[in-house]
Amino acid sequence: MEKLWGGRFKKSINKEMEEFISSLSFDKKLVKYDLLGSIAHAQMLGKCNIITKEEKNKIVEGLKQIQKEVQEGKVEIITGEAEDIHSWVENKLKEKIGAVAGKLHIARSRNDQIAFDERIYLKEEVLKIQDLLKDLQKSLLFTAQKNFGIIMPGYTHLQHAQPILFSHHLMAYFYMFERDKARMQDLYKRVDVLPLGSAALAGTSFPIDREYVASQLGFNRISENSLDAVSGRDFILEFLSVAAILMMHLSRLGEELVLWSSKEFAFIELDDSFCTGSSIMPQKKNPDTVELIRGKTGRVYGNLITLFTIMKSLPLAYNKDMQEDKEPLFDTAHTLEKSISLMSKMIDTMQVNKEKMETSLKDDFSTATELADYLVKKGLPFREAHKLVGGMVIYCLENKKNLEDLTLSELKSFHKNFSEKALEILKPQSAIETKDSFGGTSLKRVKGSIQKAKKILKQK
Ligand code: ARG
Repeated sequence: MEKLWGGRFKKSINKEMEEFISSLSFDKKLVKYDLLGSIAHAQMLGKCNIITKEEKNKIVEGLKQIQKEVQEGKVEIITGEAEDIHSWVENKLKEKIGAVAGKLHIARSRNDQIAFDERIYLKEEVLKIQDLLKDLQKSLLFTAQKNFGIIMPGYTHLQHAQPILFSHHLMAYFYMFERDKARMQDLYKRVDVLPLGSAALAGTSFPIDREYVASQLGFNRISENSLDAVSGRDFILEFLSVAAILMMHLSRLGEELVLWSSKEFAFIELDDSFCTGSSIMPQKKNPDTVELIRGKTGRVYGNLITLFTIMKSLPLAYNKDMQEDKEPLFDTAHTLEKSISLMSKMIDTMQVNKEKMETSLKDDFSTATELADYLVKKGLPFREAHKLVGGMVIYCLENKKNLEDLTLSELKSFHKNFSEKALEILKPQSAIETKDSFGGTSLKRVKGSIQKAKKILKQK
């Protein structure tokens, strides 16, 4: 295997070490981007008369041939063939066009090359993830609309708290993913910076045109400082951080789907096509897909910590440690894409059990707050009303009754201001209707929130 740096060495490389330092097995994923960057670089070298027009044409032609072979799957990148993807491309080019291939590396280094490859790769991934998030939001919106009006218990501490609309619960996730999308959009600006032209660390003595390369490659800006450009990986850390938050949201939704599809809840049934059975218990239907999404959150968090740890004490500029940045990056992008895509398919296909949700509200005292609010509206301080209704709950529990079972005279025995009306407000439907504050769970508010969400999706 020919080395790009062989000239300085008398002895050949230790075989075990050669394998150890090679990144080809994973950075081959970047071949498409490495070729794009190389073509633009060669064109710029020609345009700036750093190489002749003929040399430029030969190099670009050769690179385009490799590009075609890669696209058509005619060439296989075999681990062991080269130290990394940059060396692989240069070796291949030399095979095709001979010694002139050696002119491609004028005014560049693998250090600015890899920073570029990662940035252009990430730009594509971020756009893909934003689109997938949009699909997931559509699934949530569609399901919220389809099941509009269904009431379920809202929880705090996983205890029945107050009735809410099922659609309101789903829309909570819509807005979480909207923020995740916005975070992706924001970090994109910082990824969209071209490092090419920084060379190894110091810039170059050749009269290059970085702006031209940026425009050829669709980059918005060029980097300001050559050291920063080749040694900075905060653009990946930012992506991994935003990915960790997004994965946490997916995991929370996943956890709810696991709970809701259990016998205890039975609020939903996930489609067979996203579940598995048990090899021993014939009756089992396990929510594996959502469990795995929840579980994979671990590796996405881990990838963030991995890169933080790699970077934390590195002196400027490039250090070989940084080669370890790629697998966490690829793994997180892949995990996110699969998880978001599957999550939206599961939301689309799940069955919602209206009856189970609504009957679970019986006997749960989740409208007790309504009674307290009722007394407050009659002039009682909230604390006093809260205490009084607490006493009513104890009374009901001791007498095996629900709040709804109380007669008017029983109510009056707790407070003279109770009237027939108080029995009405104990119904979940009425509890929902009263939550008409902005952002609340009343039918009108949730309908409004769904309308707004539709507009948001149309915007981008
Ligand atoms: N394979 C290397 C990496 O991924 C590319 C940059 C190598 N630069 C160098 N000076 N050895 O980090």
